[in-house]
Amino acid sequence: MATPIILDCDPGTDDAFALLLALASPELEVLAVTVAGGNVGLECTLPNALALVALAEANVPVYAGADRPLLGAFVNETRVHGVDGLGGIGLPAGGAAASGVAADAIRAILRSAPRRVTLVGIAPATNLALALMTEPSLADRAEQIVLMTGAWGEGNATPAAEFNALNDPEALAVLLACGRPVVLVTLNLTAQALCTTERLAVLRRAGTSQCLARLCDIQATVPFGPRFGGTGAALHDPCAVAWLLRPDLFTTRACTVSVDLGPGPCRGRTVIDRWNRWGLPHNATVLETLHGDAFFALLGERLTRLP
Ligand code: BDR
Ligand code: CA
Repeated sequence: MATPIILDCDPGTDDAFALLLALASPELEVLAVTVAGGNVGLECTLPNALALVALAEANVPVYAGADRPLLGAFVNETRVHGVDGLGGIGLPAGGAAASGVAADAIRAILRSAPRRVTLVGIAPATNLALALMTEPSLADRAEQIVLMTGAWGEGNATPAAEFNALNDPEALAVLLACGRPVVLVTLNLTAQALCTTERLAVLRRAGTSQCLARLCDIQATVPFGPRFGGTGAALHDPCAVAWLLRPDLFTTRACTVSVDLGPGPCRGRTVIDRWNRWGLPHNATVLETLHGDAFFALLGERLTRLP
C-alpha cells in the first residue's frame, strides 16, 4: 500500500526535483501539495508548483499557503533559484489552485485520512506549524514529519543557519516539539547529493521524459557556489523524498535538536546534539550519510517514468 504524504514546498529549483520524484513514485500517494513563499515569493512559488504538477500530468490538489513566516518576512534566495524560482526556464502554466488555504487543507486531510499521513516539509515550516498549532491533537495523525532543514555545521543562508530554518525558526520549533517522529535532512546530508556537471549530464541521458529534460534545464541554471569549491550544487529537497523511497541509502542517528530563536547572528541555527552531551530525550532522527551515486540513479530511474 502506498504511503500517503502531504508535500509542503516553495519551488524552488530543488523543490521541483522533490515534487516530481514524489509524483513519479508509486510507493507514495501525494494527497496534496501545499505551498509557502520562501525561495521566492508565494506569487511565484504557487504557479511554479501548479506548473510542475501539470507537467507531470498529475491529479493532485495544490494549496496556497503562507506568504510570510510566523514572525517577520521571508528572505528570498533569487541568486540560487532565479527571480521566478525555477531558473527562468519558462514552464507552461498549470491549472488553478485548490480552494482554501494550506494549513486548513493539512488539518482536514489529517483529520479524515484513514491512515496516518507523512508530512514532508521542504520549505520554511510555516504551513505545517500553523496546521498543528491550530489543532495540536492532529499531530497524532502524522506518521512522521520529514524536514529538509538545519545543519549540524555551518549554515547556507547565514554562517549559523540553513535557509528553511532561518526563514521560520519558530515554526520549526513547533514541529520539533509536537511529539511525533521528526526526521531531519540537513545541509550536512544534502552535501552528499552534490549535483556536478557530470552527474547532471548522466541524469539528462537517463531517458526521454519531458519532465526530466525540464528539470535538468532548471538545474543547469543553478550557480555553483563557493561551498563546494565550484564543483557542484547540492540537490537538497529530493533527499527528503528519497528517504521515504530508499531508506537503505542513508545512515541515521537519534538526536536532541533545538533551534535558536534569538534575534542575533545565531537565529535559525539548529543545535544538534549528535553525541548526546545534553542527555535529553531525543526528538529527531538526523540523516547522516547518503549513497550519492545511488541517489542520482534513483532520480534518473524515477523521473524517466514521467511524461
Ligand atoms: C533549502 O533552502 C531552499 O533554498 C531549498 O529549496 C531547500 O529547501 C536548502 O537550504
Ligand atoms: Ca525548498
